[in-house]
Amino acid sequence: MITAALLCFLFLGSSSAFEGLEPWSVGNETVGPSKECTCEAFLPDSIFPMGELELLENTIVQINHKLELEISKITMFESKLVIYTEKIMNLTALITVIENDPDSYTQGQIEDVKILIKQLEALIMELQASIMISTEVLISIRKEVTTIIVVLTRLEATYDKNLVLITRREYIKLQQKLEECERRHNEIFNPNIGSCNHDGISRLSKPMISQLNGHLNSAHRYGGWGKDSNPLPGYENMYWYAGFPDTLVNQISVYADYYNLIMRQPMRTHQLYINSATDWRGIGNNYILRNNTLYYQFRSPFSMGKYNLTSETGVYRVVPKASDKFSYHYSGGQNLDFAADENGLWVMYATDESKGKLVLGKIDEAAFAMKEVYETSIFKPSVGNAFMVCGVLYATRSVDVKTEEIFYTYNTHTRRGSYVSIKFEKFQETYVYLDYNPTDQKLYMYNNGYYVSYHVWFQSKNTQLLI
Ligand SMILES: *[C@@H]1O[C@H](CO)[C@@H](O)[C@H](O)[C@H]1NC(C)=O
Ligand SMILES: *[C@@H]1O[C@H](CO)[C@@H](O)[C@H](O)[C@H]1NC(C)=O
Ligand SMILES: *[C@@H]1O[C@H](CO)[C@@H](O)[C@H](O)[C@H]1NC(C)=O
Ligand SMILES: *[C@@H]1O[C@H](CO)[C@@H](O)[C@H](O)[C@H]1NC(C)=O
Repeated sequence: MITAALLCFLFLGSSSAFEGLEPWSVGNETVGPSKECTCEAFLPDSIFPMGELELLENTIVQINHKLELEISKITMFESKLVIYTEKIMNLTALITVIENDPDSYTQGQIEDVKILIKQLEALIMELQASIMISTEVLISIRKEVTTIIVVLTRLEATYDKNLVLITRREYIKLQQKLEECERRHNEIFNPNIGSCNHDGISRLSKPMISQLNGHLNSAHRYGGWGKDSNPLPGYENMYWYAGFPDTLVNQISVYADYYNLIMRQPMRTHQLYINSATDWRGIGNNYILRNNTLYYQFRSPFSMGKYNLTSETGVYRVVPKASDKFSYHYSGGQNLDFAADENGLWVMYATDESKGKLVLGKIDEAAFAMKEVYETSIFKPSVGNAFMVCGVLYATRSVDVKTEEIFYTYNTHTRRGSYVSIKFEKFQETYVYLDYNPTDQKLYMYNNGYYVSYHVWFQSKNTQLLI
């Protein structure tokens, strides 16, 4: 009722925010002679649903509390890690000393050391268990945050955006805090960013939905987003986005950081078409940003393009034998798919010679030329999308409307492919963009106009995991 009274007051005060909205005449209201509002109104649909917004704000406050708790836990994990690491180093040093001169130590002293090792093992296992619980909590928080952005986006699309502004700011603060928390958690959980000392992907997280695209337009379902895979110094926090209502690629926007991406405040939007002499437009999706340079499928002639965001100039090179007949399953025009991983820059395509089977090329970045070519056994038009991690290609396909799976991998080190099944959840049925970024080990997906990302878990090389 407080909400209704407040609204009533606002309405009588003819607040400009409600101009143009249908007045709530349908309801159970009485406006007294003194113009005092004594209404017990119910709100017609066309009026802003204040209750929903209030609920949203409460949810944000609640999630914030949960997040604060997790942050304090992570701070504790971090300090425990420092102490345990030091203990391991001290013990290792002690064991080395004993091993070099075993005769100087009594059986009792050696038993003491064994007990110390057992104690430390127990502490580490306890820490690992706590970190796992924290992972689950963060995943559930991420899910709740996702629900908020869906509601928030819907409210913004339906009503005056200014009414939701404060809530959106609160949401962005929460989102940033969550990102930071996830980053710190990820560092504890996976201190090996950049390392390829693992046996490939074991699973993906639930989809993390950041936002509807930079145009706030669900018709812009072609496009992509992500971060530079080898950023120039000072541009480590930068994000990029390109989205279009069709497969023509004519611009790309860059954002200073995540906040600006979410606020839709680009630091720059680069136009790929100036005039017919400088027409660097692309086609399809599956471009990437690397060294502040966009690598993408050039529109005309059919070739691989490279647009340098620093110099704002483009060049292209024809990919030998590449065909423009074989796109991916979810969209046309995706004949060249670029990917970057810990090992460099790649392009995936198909040729007439391969009869549409996916071909993988390693690109020499400096020369912008094909260095090596690998042929896989999967038919490119049946593939949803593909990406590279540590020199291994991963290809996806649809299982059902909510589920996708990595069904094939190709290892360039062994030149062998194999069929696998790593299922993961989709936010919406179709997507046109999926790429891995080695700087944060995340997958970036452009899912029917939404920015979506996934954490990636790797199979450990050692069966026994000890920090
Ligand atoms: C207004 O609400 C009161 C109490 O809820 C109810 O008794 C009354 O019938 C309602 N009047 C109208 C016009 O709906
Ligand atoms: C490791 O050894 C150093 C030097 O002996 C000692 O000062 C320190 O407290 C030890 N660290 C731990 C965590 O036991
Ligand atoms: C982009 O252009 C800048 C300025 O001309 C140059 O220094 C840089 O090497 C170029 N980057 C690439 C990847 O070609
Ligand atoms: C990209 O950046 C890396 C490291 O910053 C550099 O070694 C490499 O030469 C750059 N590539 C090009 C094509 O400029």
